[in-house]
Amino acid sequence: MECRLDGQVAVVTGASSGLGRAVALLYGQSGAAVVVNYHRDAEGAAEVVRQIGQAGGRALAVQADVAEEAAVEALFDAAARHFGGIDILVANSGLQQDAPVAKMTLEQWRRVIDVNLTGQFLCARAAIRRFRAQGRRPGAAPSLGKILCMSSVHEVIPWAGRVNYAASKGGVALLMRSLAQEVAAEGIRVNAIAPGAIRTPINAENTEGEAGEKLLSLIPYGRIGTPEDVARAALFLASDMADYVVGATLFVDGGMTLYPAFRDNG
Ligand code: BGC
Repeated sequence: MECRLDGQVAVVTGASSGLGRAVALLYGQSGAAVVVNYHRDAEGAAEVVRQIGQAGGRALAVQADVAEEAAVEALFDAAARHFGGIDILVANSGLQQDAPVAKMTLEQWRRVIDVNLTGQFLCARAAIRRFRAQGRRPGAAPSLGKILCMSSVHEVIPWAGRVNYAASKGGVALLMRSLAQEVAAEGIRVNAIAPGAIRTPINAENTEGEAGEKLLSLIPYGRIGTPEDVARAALFLASDMADYVVGATLFVDGGMTLYPAFRDNG
């Protein structure tokens, strides 16, 4: 058995750059038709669509702010209209608005929770409604549908100066597991990926130069990750290779969650 997604339709949110982009490209290469959702970066999304098309795949760019209920509904309507159904959701959109807690504005708190947590709820709800309404699709996978939540090592590692982000990812952890428990009996598989330090635009500052060197001391495996590292995990979890994987979080972090400070006896 191979990790293939032939004949399936995937909605990838936040797919104009970073992790979402890498997931969309790999899904496209692996036979899925991909809905490349973006918020502001229309050009980035168009480029992802172009690259998928060039490699012989099918893709469509659709604008939506995942924090907006109506926009999420419209995104899933467009996906179903264009490709005839939906088999996979990768709820990937996420952002950071860092500030020490005393300086963090309510706006910064809300925006991060709205996109990173509420956005995943809205997208998962829309996907589950679709999976139920469309039923088993001809030639589809053994599951009724698959949902992947993009979490972070910060679903378990506290992160000073980013309480909004850490709280959103801690929320994603139990959103994912509770959803998985609720819908597994219908054949819907819900899982998560928790990336560590990956070179993407969201954290360019922390992964380059001196900051990048310092970061390496937190990564037992000795390198900063690439978006493709995460995309391969996302391909596995969405494929039938992972058909018995339900409610799991796959850490793709080079060992960052292994308490590396204890390597020298703490
Ligand atoms: C954040 C990155 C950070 C990484 C490890 C991710 O969730 O988006 O900025 O480098 O966690 O701390």
